[in-house]
Amino acid sequence: MSDTFDVIVIGGGPGGYVCAIRAAQLGLKTACVENRGSLGGTCLNVGCIPSKALLQSSHLFEEANHSFADHGIKVAKVDLDLPTMMKRKDEVVKQNTSGIEFLFKKNKVTYIKGTGKIAKASPGAHQVAVKGLDGKDATYTAKYVVIATGSEVTPLPGITIDEKQIVSSTGALELSKVPKSLVVIGAGVIGLEMGSVWRRLGAEVTVIEFLDFILPPMDGEVRKQMQRILEKQGLKFQLGQKVTKAVAGKDGVTLTVEPAKGGAAQEIKAETVLVAVGRRPFTAGLGLAEAGVKLTNRGFVEADVHYQTNVEGIFAIGDVIGGMMLAHKAEDEGVAVAELMAGQTAHINYDAIASVVYTWPEVAGIGKTEEQLKEAGVAYKAGKFPFTANSRARANGDIDGFVKILADASTDRVLGCHIIGPSGGDLIMEVALGMEFGASAEDIARTCHAHPQLGEAVKEAALNVDKRAIHI
Ligand code: NAI
Repeated sequence: MSDTFDVIVIGGGPGGYVCAIRAAQLGLKTACVENRGSLGGTCLNVGCIPSKALLQSSHLFEEANHSFADHGIKVAKVDLDLPTMMKRKDEVVKQNTSGIEFLFKKNKVTYIKGTGKIAKASPGAHQVAVKGLDGKDATYTAKYVVIATGSEVTPLPGITIDEKQIVSSTGALELSKVPKSLVVIGAGVIGLEMGSVWRRLGAEVTVIEFLDFILPPMDGEVRKQMQRILEKQGLKFQLGQKVTKAVAGKDGVTLTVEPAKGGAAQEIKAETVLVAVGRRPFTAGLGLAEAGVKLTNRGFVEADVHYQTNVEGIFAIGDVIGGMMLAHKAEDEGVAVAELMAGQTAHINYDAIASVVYTWPEVAGIGKTEEQLKEAGVAYKAGKFPFTANSRARANGDIDGFVKILADASTDRVLGCHIIGPSGGDLIMEVALGMEFGASAEDIARTCHAHPQLGEAVKEAALNVDKRAIHI
């Protein structure tokens, strides 16, 4: 194997592997260094994909248990076969990760299995040392290096994650039995998705959140309504509380919980605890300090608008540079940086990146929230449409939620969209496309939407920006 490349990408997650493929497509001789033993990073191996497999399986289990009867389908007894559910999830992961290996071969990306480190920063010929998974060491040279090492679970002081009784999202995807009780620390994306999975499978789930509301970055109205919907499903919330200690013992975990604003502590017990209080950039062992690559005061790699660090030819993308910690944001940055390295121009519209929480119903948001618009003093109009008034949602029996579109009061340009609803994550993509093209609410409202579809709720919300929805 030749040891000189145009590009070496360190990290084979959604940012890194996509960057490597795009760079190779553009004719750059590219290698990707990954030490997990499989490609796809956190997202494919222990994040987005296995969690969606379990969300889908547990959703079907819940439907069979609670909704089939409404449809006139009699099921004698619904039994959970957790080992088969877990095996299916592992197979889904395997299919996806080996799919990327195939794409690497197809695009002639060299896959280097090992841990990469910048051995010497030398613009034009940077050196990357790799400790191979096979125990062999090697050093490679590249004109460009892309750091795409992602993020890791943020630990919580006073709590040791053992991935058995006290788990991170990784352990929460691997539980060997349904716990009787599960305490989730953090009402963010992971907490609500994994909390939903285990609640559907039979655990009693309590979510403890530091703030006074769930899903912090989402629109306020969405946060409130989603909490009510999840409570109706059986999730319990303790808001404005912080966990200061968790001790695992023979008869479960004892947690010490205090009001966030101060006050008397209480103890609660749980069979299993999930810590989901966020993620932090992963930069350990990369040789960044020695290479002179600057970090921000929060530990992210500092990168300019072209994703270049302060060292010429060393770039960084994805979770490790901060911003929205989302696989699709990292992927787009991977494509952008590959195109920039190939001498093209590239630009990402960060205002048109959707966030989706894959609970049921799903929660999806893009652009500005009402709170952000108010704070910025922007005059806006809001159009809302509930799924109770959407014929397809009624036919499906999924009527929780609404679509809300926020548009500039004078230009009508769409500034944001917030959805709670069946397949909300798919529905929001038409608004993303619209925002990318600078659409007005009227543009969406005048687009003929097929009937009967859930997407008609998006059209009606757009119509309702000017208070002219038809079906409410
Ligand atoms: P998060 O940032 O979404 O939520 C963490 C929550 O924990 C926040 O609500 C925070 O206020 C709370 N918290 C922090 N310290 C606490 C304490 N001591 N006690 C109680 N609550 C506390 O982080 P999460 O859920 O761990 O997810 C990590 C990252 O992974 C996020 O950036 C998320 O966007 C990404 N992710 C995205 C998914 C998706 O797009 N569907 C799925 C899963 C993860």
